[in-house]
Amino acid sequence: MKLDINLTMTYKTKRINHSMRLLAPMIQRPRGTRDFAPAEMHRRRQVEGAMREACERAGFGEVLTPTFEHSELFTLRSGQAVIDEMYVFRDKGDREMALRPEITASVIRFYVNELSNMPKPLKLYYVGNCFRYENPQSGRYREFFQLGAELIGSKNPETDAEAIALAVNCIRAAGLETFAVRIGHIGILKSLVKQEIKEDDVAAEVLRMIDKEDFDALGDMFDAKALPRKLFDKITAIAETRGGMDVLDNLDKSEATAYLKEVFETLKLYGIDDCSVDLGIVRGLDYYTGMVFEIDAPKLGAEKQIMGGGSYTLSELFGGEPVFSTGFAIGIDRVMLALEAEKKPTEYMPLDAYVVPTDDDMRKYAFGLVSRLRSQGVRADVDLMRRNLSKNLKYASSVGARYAVIVGKEEMSKRSVTLRDMKTGEQKLVLADEVSTVILSAGR
Ligand code: HAM
Repeated sequence: MKLDINLTMTYKTKRINHSMRLLAPMIQRPRGTRDFAPAEMHRRRQVEGAMREACERAGFGEVLTPTFEHSELFTLRSGQAVIDEMYVFRDKGDREMALRPEITASVIRFYVNELSNMPKPLKLYYVGNCFRYENPQSGRYREFFQLGAELIGSKNPETDAEAIALAVNCIRAAGLETFAVRIGHIGILKSLVKQEIKEDDVAAEVLRMIDKEDFDALGDMFDAKALPRKLFDKITAIAETRGGMDVLDNLDKSEATAYLKEVFETLKLYGIDDCSVDLGIVRGLDYYTGMVFEIDAPKLGAEKQIMGGGSYTLSELFGGEPVFSTGFAIGIDRVMLALEAEKKPTEYMPLDAYVVPTDDDMRKYAFGLVSRLRSQGVRADVDLMRRNLSKNLKYASSVGARYAVIVGKEEMSKRSVTLRDMKTGEQKLVLADEVSTVILSAGR
């Protein structure tokens, strides 16, 4: 009886300790960031891999730049909107640093620092995380991922067409079927606004409103600042110029419209003939000077822009010789959302084989076998929890193993194993030496 009481007390004490541990506040990840579980990482890596391959096939080489830079790199020309959203901090040496809000400025800094003697055009691509203190929502995060490319040292319609073609091919390679490519020329609106509006901050605000397509607010601003109504009408007419290539014929002939026509003609030669003109593209970043382009996935809601890019000059701001560049960045997170909206994700089967010993005597043999399978290129795992056969089969199915490799005394006496197809439940006896060949030849 006494013993019983003691046992109960110990049990209760343990329970209290356990619940006290549960009461500790759970630490959550920062707002606007995400954790990615293995199934999702697998899908992301597949998509990323396909886009990387498209870059390599077009002669682009991968670069990697730091996640943080001197904040000046971005404040020099990225524009107020990006500066307002930047994660800025002082390091222990009291230097002002920023988590990169984008990667183009870093690539051009790298070019100026170390690559300016490389043969032109220099074709570089990158994959990395970026940080912007935005209002998080679906498709808009504070940490997000970009795959981008920069074509440095060439300025002509063919170069811009090459960049657009690569962006399109990356998105096709990712497997997305429905997307719309819009191409414009920032020079048309920028030169008009800057020529007519002398105050730089007012001109920048006008461009920002055009970028947000907030023409009501733009009209109010024109009234408040007594800016000419004629200019407003001209700006809105240009910004609303959208459609096939022929819409360019409705505009006054200019260098910019002739240039865009050549871009469209070259794209046709690349087999890309479904792009449209959109002269309202202003882009959120300030460094663009000529052709600008964006790609939307219409199935996404408000955050449907999956890619943005254009031609620009930045090198002279970072202490280099002026050099023309064209580039783009694809929002990997938004591509993933667009793919999900388009089709069911494929089943995630991370293991080819899960080795199951039928009893304790077979465990040593199971470890030897799993090691052999791994060295032969099979993604294999083995029971580490000393479970019985039926629990092991349940586990194999729940972790997405294609086959269970059952090793028992009887099978061993025949130098064999039982191979169980986890989807169909079909079982067959296979020589132990041939398991990897059978599994690998079945394909994944
Ligand atoms: P961006 O338009 O600012 O351009 O970003 C490129 C893409 O990144 C966007 O089209 C979008 O898909 C994705 N993105 C941007 N912000 C977020 C966010 N908060 N959450 C999720 N995705 C986001 C640039 O960054 C330029 N550096 C592109 C470039 C390269 N221009 C010339 N070269």
